[in-house]
Order: sequence, then C-alpha cells, then structure tokens
Amino acid sequence: MSADQPSQQPHRHATAEEVEAAYQDTKLAQVLYHDWESETYDEKWSISFDDRCITYARGRFDQATTRTIRNDEIPYEKALELGCGTGFFLLNLMQSGVAQKGELTDLSPGMVEVALRNGRNLGLDVDGRVADAETIPYPDNTFDLVVGHAMLHHIPDPEQSLAEVLRVLKPGGRFVFAGEPSTTGDRYARFISTLTWKLVTNVTRLPFLNKWRRPQQELDDSSRAQALEAVVDIHTFTPTELADIARRAGAVRVKVSAEEFAAALEGWPIRTFEAAVPDEKLSFRYRLFAFNLFKAATWLDEHFFNKFIPQSWFYNLLVTGTKPYINARPRTPGPSKNPLPLSR
Ligand SMILES: C[S@@+](CC[C@H](N)C(=O)[O-])C[C@H]1O[C@@H](n2cnc3c(N)ncnc32)[C@H](O)[C@@H]1O
Repeated sequence: MSADQPSQQPHRHATAEEVEAAYQDTKLAQVLYHDWESETYDEKWSISFDDRCITYARGRFDQATTRTIRNDEIPYEKALELGCGTGFFLLNLMQSGVAQKGELTDLSPGMVEVALRNGRNLGLDVDGRVADAETIPYPDNTFDLVVGHAMLHHIPDPEQSLAEVLRVLKPGGRFVFAGEPSTTGDRYARFISTLTWKLVTNVTRLPFLNKWRRPQQELDDSSRAQALEAVVDIHTFTPTELADIARRAGAVRVKVSAEEFAAALEGWPIRTFEAAVPDEKLSFRYRLFAFNLFKAATWLDEHFFNKFIPQSWFYNLLVTGTKPYINARPRTPGPSKNPLPLSR
C-alpha cells in the first residue's frame, strides 16, 4: 500500500510491517492511523451533528471571519473540506447554513467513507473522494469556500497546501482553517498530558485503586497509538508564522485569531484522565461535571483571558483569507520557502 497514489479503499487493520514503515513515511502514517481511527473517531472526540456541534463549528467559522466577511458572502454555493475526518466541520457548517453543496476529502479512505455516510444520513448535498491536501484533485477556480479543521498541522508543506487551496478557489473565494495547535499551547498541553498520564497510570497500581486501572494490554495499545500520533502531528504554528504562510501562498485579507487558554489547561488533563481509566468509571455525574468545567473555562477565556494574554499563549489558532481577483502567486511555484522546522 502506498500513500503516493491514494487508494479509495479503507485499510483498517495495518500489519506490523506497515506500522514500522509508517514511522519513516508520514503520509503512510496518516492513512494507517486515521483509517484505523475512522469508525471510532466520532465517539473518541464526542463529535455529533446536533445543535451542540453545529453551534461549535459555526462559532469557529464566525470567530475566524469576524470583521473580514461581507454580509452577502453566506451561503457559499460550493464548499470543499480538506482533511475532513468524519465531516465534523463542513457538515455542521452546512447545517448552520454556511454552504449549499459540500465536497468532503481526506487522505484516509476510511475517513472519507464515514464522512460521506454521515453527510448522506443528514440529507445534505455532499460528495467526496480521497485527496491529498498538497495536490488537490480539482480544477482551478472550482470552489467558493475551502475549510479545514485540525488538519493543516498534519501536512508536510502547509504553504504548498494553501497554494493549492487558492488555486481551486474562485477569485474572491474564502478559506477558513481552525483548530491548529499553537507552538506554546502544544508545549503546555503535552507537558500536562504526559504528567496526567503518568500520575493516573501509576496511582491506579495501588491495590485500593485497582478498579480504576485499565487492563495493561489496553494501556500498551494506547501508548503505541500515542507514539504513532507523534508521527502524524507534524507542525505547530505561531500566529505570525501562520499568517506569513498564508500570504506567501498568495492569499489576501489574511487574518489569524486564537482561542482556548483556560479551556486547554482544563481540557487536556481531563481528556487524558478519561483515556487512562475504564470507561464505566466515568459516571453521568462526572461527565456533567466535566462539561460544566469546560463551559466555565470557555467563559473565562471569552470574558477575561481574551482581553489580557498574548495570542500566542492560546492553544488553538484559526486562519482565514481570500483569493485575490488577480492571482499574485507565480504559476510555476519554486521550491517551498516554508521555514518551519518539524515541531517534534
Ligand atoms: C486531526 S484529524 C481532523 C479531522 C477533522 N477535520 C476533524 O476536525 O474532526 C486530521 C485529518 O487530516 C487528514 N490528513 C492528514 N494528512 C492529510 C493530507 N496530506 N491530505 C488530506 N488529509 C490529510 C487525516 O487523515 C485526518 O482525517
């Protein structure tokens, strides 16, 4: 199996040799890891297609575009999602009225299959295919809107990908990418998660806490998945780097915004704790408590931290921009000028 010529068939059970090869081939790792996750992804990340996630997705779109969008831009007629996963961003945006027709694409055939199933179950006008975001398989000037959520940081050359986004956008068309990890946010999130994982998996060795310990086999599987996750998470960005990448790719009216500081400091230990203990230990009361804690942290971000702390301290970055009416980028791109080191 090769990720150079994308297969349209999901490959949900990788062999040990394929996993070994994936450590040297980031695109193969993306396909194996995300094909494998595709059927359980919605549950793992609490993704739904109801009011809760419609409001969340639309909130990200509005936060990214605020003060830069024309009143008559919405609804967009034809929208494309890159790295769609199970369709969380575009399907919920379509339900909120942002776009009429949606094209769902991802490097992982398993994800495309689940996203299309989700879209059709919702009765939305969607189609889709396996597509690499660095070589988008659609003609120039096709879409009015291109979106992505938590995907740019997986792409080896994000500038090349954004140049492709601008190629497939119609002149004046818009892109919105949300959920990209900031460099500072990623550092503290990793530190907190590693600490929480070690604490919970060691404390639950104590005999009287033994019922809170997941079977060793499951903990080992999680650790292996985390190791592969480190291969698929390629970049983090500072707000300035993200804006510069978008401008170098040829975008205009570029705006970067940031969100989640208290929400990240609260969310990462909670998510790690939940992954480290058996599911049946997480009662309804606990889940309600965790949800209320998240709402309180989000309130603090919106009413307090947003006003005082630098953008680069927030965990999540969002970027929007438009395609100029006269394309400023040379037609034959030279070697990438992407200055980002591999972040980990
Ligand atoms: C963290 S997941 C996010 C999925 C979804 N957007 C969401 O927010 O739930 C990243 C997605 O990007 C996809 N991906 C990784 N590399 C890609 C590439 N080169 N081209 C297109 N999609 C890619 C993965 O297969 C995966 O589905």
